[in-house]
Amino acid sequence: MIDRARSNTAQLGHKNVEFRLGEIENLPVADNAIDAVISNCVINLSPNKRRVFEEAFRVLKPKGRLMISDIVLLKKLPVAIRQSAEAYIGCISGAVLKDEYLRTIRDAGFKEVKIMGEMKFPLEHMVNDPTVKKIIKKLKISAGKARELADSVVSVKISGVKPRIDRRKALSLRASSSLAKCNFRSRSSNSVVDGAQGLIMTST
Ligand SMILES: C[S@@+](CC[C@H](N)C(=O)[O-])C[C@H]1O[C@@H](n2cnc3c(N)ncnc32)[C@H](O)[C@@H]1O
Repeated sequence: MIDRARSNTAQLGHKNVEFRLGEIENLPVADNAIDAVISNCVINLSPNKRRVFEEAFRVLKPKGRLMISDIVLLKKLPVAIRQSAEAYIGCISGAVLKDEYLRTIRDAGFKEVKIMGEMKFPLEHMVNDPTVKKIIKKLKISAGKARELADSVVSVKISGVKPRIDRRKALSLRASSSLAKCNFRSRSSNSVVDGAQGLIMTST
């Protein structure tokens, strides 16, 4: 896939596009390097969504933007669907509740987290989807249950911003800087003074 993307880009002559193969839980990108992180329908597949948002936060520059589209749930899915491989591949059973999803983004440090759009899948659309068709057939889901499923799954577009100051880091740096200052008083070490000054500068 990456080879094809690279060759398409070369054919089109784009010089400012780069593809890197990696996992969303371990982005092959340096800290504070990126202006915007976008993603479409992938994070629901990750078993460690917290780590995904922490990674997005890490690679973004201060004031960098997160803009994602994903599948979330309005209510918990029945156990049979939660355990279905087909439903996982179909981006349904890996999805979490909307509130939990938003909380995970905020817990990673993002501010101004907003839902920019939300869309339910019409039942007719869902039952005609080949993957959903398979799930309905395999799990012998009744028409009523299919309607319940269609009412539980939504596609959301969410935006967030990495604040200019990473408050969580600032707090922990402030704590370490007080510690460093204490060390300085007791040990009079230059390296600790440098460290403490650096830490204070970063945290203010
Ligand atoms: C539903 S598709 C995404 C659709 C695509 N983003 C688009 O806009 O057409 C899911 C993709 O996510 C990839 N994927 C799943 N888990 C991943 C992970 N942990 N890290 C990176 N990619 C992952 C899959 O290989 C698959 O290509």
